[in-house]
Amino acid sequence: MRTPKHFFEPLAVGAPTPLREIPFKPSRMIHFFDPSNEKMAAKVPDIAKKVDVLLGNLEDAVAADRKLAAREGFVRIAKANDFGDTQLWTRVNSLDSPWFLDDVTSIVEHVGDKLDVIMVPKVEGAWDIHYVDRLLAQLEARHGVKKPILVHAILETALGVANVEEIASASPRMQGLSLGPADLAASRRMKTTRVGGGHPGYLVRSDPDATQPDAPRTTAQQDLWHYTLARMVDACVATGILPYYGPFGDIQDVVACEDQFRNAFLLGCVGAWSLHPVQIEIAKRVFSPPVDEVKWALRVIEAMGDGTGAVMLDGKMQDDATVKQCRVVVDLAKMLAEKDGSLRELYGF
Ligand code: GLV
Ligand code: MG
Repeated sequence: MRTPKHFFEPLAVGAPTPLREIPFKPSRMIHFFDPSNEKMAAKVPDIAKKVDVLLGNLEDAVAADRKLAAREGFVRIAKANDFGDTQLWTRVNSLDSPWFLDDVTSIVEHVGDKLDVIMVPKVEGAWDIHYVDRLLAQLEARHGVKKPILVHAILETALGVANVEEIASASPRMQGLSLGPADLAASRRMKTTRVGGGHPGYLVRSDPDATQPDAPRTTAQQDLWHYTLARMVDACVATGILPYYGPFGDIQDVVACEDQFRNAFLLGCVGAWSLHPVQIEIAKRVFSPPVDEVKWALRVIEAMGDGTGAVMLDGKMQDDATVKQCRVVVDLAKMLAEKDGSLRELYGF
């Protein structure tokens, strides 16, 4: 038995008290950089000004012989820079890897007070989060870290998806979940060889026309990720944490990247990963509500007064439920406008 009271007690004497609510800050893009790459590291101060979340990646895409350089590079960069209101995250190596323990111990020791969130890959169940939770509490206590370091899990194994609700609710540290389509595809034995996005072979076809059996039949490509993304969004919202779409690997295909990001935005995600500067602008555009939607939402809220009953606006019925949808849009727009001066002007706040 674990009572709700225990849930919010620190897991180590001297560790900071767990948060009761996950702060919802601008999170349109989690921008990945490789701290072992000198060229990328040199650009960090500039990039940090352009993104909502900056993430030093230690896991996949960093070669085994660069792991130590990446960890040390992250610590150095975190110490040397003031990131202002940009969140600083890291993605550590997986729990079963030879690097996880030193990644976490070293980062909390050296820059625990600067770090907002640790992204943990390949999380499969609540047991993974419980382990990270206690370890972080011990390290926070040892190093006098003042605010709890939050945990973000990547949903990228079939078992993780089967346990998504228990992962999301495993600890008050849980900040959010990202969909990891590349590892998830491999784990599920899907027959794709790409990072996110659709596949032309995953489609539905119209029935044959009996009078013209040889006539071409229209097809429509389907979304490979819809089920998982929708499940993940429900698990996150039900537990008060934030859902994100993950990576889109075809950097040159900015159109399909934008479509993938927008599907995630419309379905409830707050952001996506950016793997290249070109994707920063896409995420900014997609995950900031469109100006006309914000203006419309403001009209609905005004017309609905106390938010009950029904009114007609431009021939469209509004009621208690539509005003709630409009508040989601306006609240997000206001939160983003506080950080982003250009949005403030566009929205007219
Ligand atoms: C991300 O880590 C992925 O596997 O897609
Ligand atoms: Mg992965």
